[in-house]
Amino acid sequence: MDIVGKIVSGDFSGIIIRQKTGVDIELGELLVARENNGYFILQVFDISYGSQIPERIRSLAAGLKLEEVSNLSFLDSELSNFILIILKPILFVTPNRYHLPKKLPKFFSAVERIREEDLSFLEKPNRPLYFGKIRSGSRVLDIDVFLRGDDVITHHMLISASTGKGKSNLVKVLTYNLLNETYSGLLVIDPHDEYYGRTKKGLKDHPNARNKIVYFSTNPPPGASTLILDLKTIKPWHLTGIVTLTEAQIECIYLFYNRDKENWIENIVLAEREEGVSAVTLDVLKRKFNNVFGVSSEDGRISFRSSLFSNNSGVTTIKNVVDNLENGKTVIIDTSKLGGEVELLIGGIFAEGIFSRYRDLSSKGYLQNKPCVSIIIEEAPRVLGKDVLDKGANIFGTIAREGRKFRVGLVAITQLPSLIPKEILANMNTKIIMGTEMSNERSALIESSPQDISEESRNIASLDIGEALLTSTFSKLAIPLKIPLFEDIFKVDKKVVKDKTTFRGVDLE
Ligand SMILES: Nc1ncnc2c1ncn2[C@@H]1O[C@H](COP(=O)(O)OP(=O)(O)O)[C@@H](O)[C@H]1O
Ligand SMILES: [Mg+2]
Repeated sequence: MDIVGKIVSGDFSGIIIRQKTGVDIELGELLVARENNGYFILQVFDISYGSQIPERIRSLAAGLKLEEVSNLSFLDSELSNFILIILKPILFVTPNRYHLPKKLPKFFSAVERIREEDLSFLEKPNRPLYFGKIRSGSRVLDIDVFLRGDDVITHHMLISASTGKGKSNLVKVLTYNLLNETYSGLLVIDPHDEYYGRTKKGLKDHPNARNKIVYFSTNPPPGASTLILDLKTIKPWHLTGIVTLTEAQIECIYLFYNRDKENWIENIVLAEREEGVSAVTLDVLKRKFNNVFGVSSEDGRISFRSSLFSNNSGVTTIKNVVDNLENGKTVIIDTSKLGGEVELLIGGIFAEGIFSRYRDLSSKGYLQNKPCVSIIIEEAPRVLGKDVLDKGANIFGTIAREGRKFRVGLVAITQLPSLIPKEILANMNTKIIMGTEMSNERSALIESSPQDISEESRNIASLDIGEALLTSTFSKLAIPLKIPLFEDIFKVDKKVVKDKTTFRGVDLE
């Protein structure tokens, strides 16, 4: 037993233990208090000094000591001066079940450091989604954390942290492990082209990559697909809430769309003038289409500035992406060469594609046997921000609000969760909170968390790179995590491969 202290006072909001001399306890550590029929798991949320000696005398004595007046050894007595640790009871575990504690541990109980066996009740569920290892303070325990993946995915996830705290690494770990599974399709909109692993290790290095990953890029490496869309496949609603449009511009768009559902963009770009549409509206729209689609009129013919949009290829791109998602594949869209608005438009087009496909399947009763679909979006406030949604709904907002019914979920990545409306934040039923210095961002996370983590603010501020707190409606407790470094997965994999290459003592390499 590794006893670290004894309970001396407190109540449900905080149990106070006196720390044993010579041990070190950190913020966020998990401790255990044992009873006859089970044990409490407690977490450290505050640490303070305690002393038997009155404050006045301590100050005086400290002053005398500083001035080296005399040897005041009673001041250093470990019996009269000590550290107090404030704990929150987070779980009571009995041999058959575990639940939130409804009573306090016994007065004067000994409190120990947690051991791996104490967490063995955390089992690997069906359709697992892997998050990382359990962490006690900064100590990593060898216990893998999984939640039921299809539940988590369809009820939306939020990944939040300041820059450099390990969001992208976490997404690599999540998506890499998801390649082992068949229960979910995954759409990754990748503005930094960091997930596929074009130039270093990435998802392409997974053993299942060949039949599970489809990679689209405007400059694809060998074997990948070209990201190109035929303008005929773009619909007016793809622009809603992503490209800013006035009432008059929307009216104009639908006027052209209703007349020719395939060539409406081209017709607007080439139109000299149009009855019922002001010249200004038409001109502004042409300018916007030039920005977004890179199209303009040259001597009465349509001209394309970029290779992303076309009028003679990419007719099946949207359908391809949606089909792949429906078949449980991971589709990575490299949008690193596209401007912000175009990136969101492309992401929105595919998101809309899978959402309407699944809504359709649902109305016909065919959805149950399909994999769920997860859509990963970086810097989510660009599409889920209050200011954006106030201007009008977009497909990402729609999915955040009603995607669950159709088994489509979002993974919203952000540094600034406070920009996302409260009801949408609350709708993200699993949150992975990583180091966040700004207190208003922490408050937004804490207020919208499935578990009561009101005591965790300081812990969250002090989380190091790769450390996280997982809160979810699908977990009974908020779980402190350490995310493995993505590159380390390959070190382990290599070792396994190496072990396998010796068979009955014969080296197969
Ligand atoms: N779990 C981790 N363990 C160790 N180092 C990490 C971990 N996650 C990230 N890092 C390091 O921090 C750097 C920044 O991480 P990154 O995931 O790009 O942060 P973010 O996306 O939040 O800006 C990485 O390049 C990596 O070196
Ligand atoms: Mg990142």
